[in-house]
Amino acid sequence: MQQIEIDKKYIEEVYNLNKNCDYLKYTIMTMGCQLNENDSEKISGMLEEMNYKYTDNFEDADLIVFNTCCVRENAEEKLFGKIGEVKNLKENKNVILAIGGCMMQEKNMVEKIKKSYPYVDIVFGTHTIHKLPEDIFRVLSERNKVRDIIDIDGDIYEGMPIKRNSSYKASVTIMYGCNNFCSYCIVPYVRGRERSRDPERILEEIRMLAKEGYKEITLLGQNVNSYKGDDKIKNFAELLDEVCKIDGIEFVNFISPHPKDFTDDVIEVIAKNPKVTRIIHLPLQSGSTKVLKEMNRKYTKEQFIERANKIKKMCPDVVFSTDIIVGYAGETEEDFEDTLDVVRQINFEQIYMFIYSIREGTVGAKREDQVPEDIKHARFDRLKELYESRVDENNEKYIGTCQKILIEGLSKNNPNTYTGRTNTNKVVIFDKDGDYKPGDIINCKITEAHKWYLKGEKVN
Ligand code: 5AD
Ligand code: SF4
Repeated sequence: MQQIEIDKKYIEEVYNLNKNCDYLKYTIMTMGCQLNENDSEKISGMLEEMNYKYTDNFEDADLIVFNTCCVRENAEEKLFGKIGEVKNLKENKNVILAIGGCMMQEKNMVEKIKKSYPYVDIVFGTHTIHKLPEDIFRVLSERNKVRDIIDIDGDIYEGMPIKRNSSYKASVTIMYGCNNFCSYCIVPYVRGRERSRDPERILEEIRMLAKEGYKEITLLGQNVNSYKGDDKIKNFAELLDEVCKIDGIEFVNFISPHPKDFTDDVIEVIAKNPKVTRIIHLPLQSGSTKVLKEMNRKYTKEQFIERANKIKKMCPDVVFSTDIIVGYAGETEEDFEDTLDVVRQINFEQIYMFIYSIREGTVGAKREDQVPEDIKHARFDRLKELYESRVDENNEKYIGTCQKILIEGLSKNNPNTYTGRTNTNKVVIFDKDGDYKPGDIINCKITEAHKWYLKGEKVN
């Protein structure tokens, strides 16, 4: 029997154990990136087929899943706090407690859980998500603790159930793992080497989503533009082009690309396809050529700027977002000035800023020239200040323009207004003058710019 059939058999086995209990509930707490969010949707899909219903209340749950991240250290503190909090639920109600995700691919974390939190029932890794039904079956039928982790690269499992969080936007993982080994990053150690999904399978999934009414697709991968296809759809550029051809899909995003793989053919596809959203994520990490080399990023400051300028030249309507790490080992004041310099030159509309967090097992962790915490924080504040000083100017550029808006729903704070997003991911609020549902698309003329949102008026 193939693994996928075995997994489905266990879904059925657990369903049979649970079928007479209509009250069974699960909750899931997801940490980290969109890939983890997507994994959680798959976990939810399996749990619902096993007769568990979702609750956002931990107290009501019969099964609690933590899907963890380990990119930065603060995620660990958060997780251990949460596991401590649910201890009394475990004791009073005997809920099933399952912990999975990236952190569980780290041996010392699994050891720590075994030692300090022995009441955890299931520990599963990123490569064994599909086996969660079997793990639950073993806990239910044998009351065993299960540790189901493999550290080789997992296979790709197609056709598992999925329960999507949204009815109009969906993430589709196109490749798993990363081969880059940036020296600060733990991801290649916990997610394994790059594996790409079959392009036809991806397109089939997106065609189905379009039929179900989904409007926005985000193609996901740790290193999404190093996607490798087959003889027909060979690479990321060709796949992106095919996705844009699917009727019904109006917005196409991809995350997270690597600047070194942002080749001309990808830029050409973006240029000719207005469906590709006009905010391009181009993770800088550092503006110093010296630090970039030590980070193993495979581009220089000048090459990064050249790529961004080329994208801007070929697609003048795009804006950029980026990731920046401050205080990587050995970063001097001069290196940090180079980062600020790139930020001044490129004028990113969105910057995800991170203070360097030492990750055991990576090359960066072995360095002795770590930057003191107070200097890291001071640099972070300076970068934030520079970024925030640009926000008003960037927002004001939108005033008077006409934007295609994907409606998210009524605004949380004011039911007389709707909230939507532009194809550059800007939040737009407009007055309610009709009934719209999430996923509807309208045109808006932007009339006001505020710090964290724009105001608009519907136009025909
Ligand atoms: N410390 C701080 N930030 C990190 N990132 C990855 N590893 C680390 C680390 N050790 C950031 C990078 C990456 C984003 C997802 O997280 O900027 O692009
Ligand atoms: Fe980490 Fe670099 Fe791979 Fe991104 S490309 S997941 S930062 S190693």
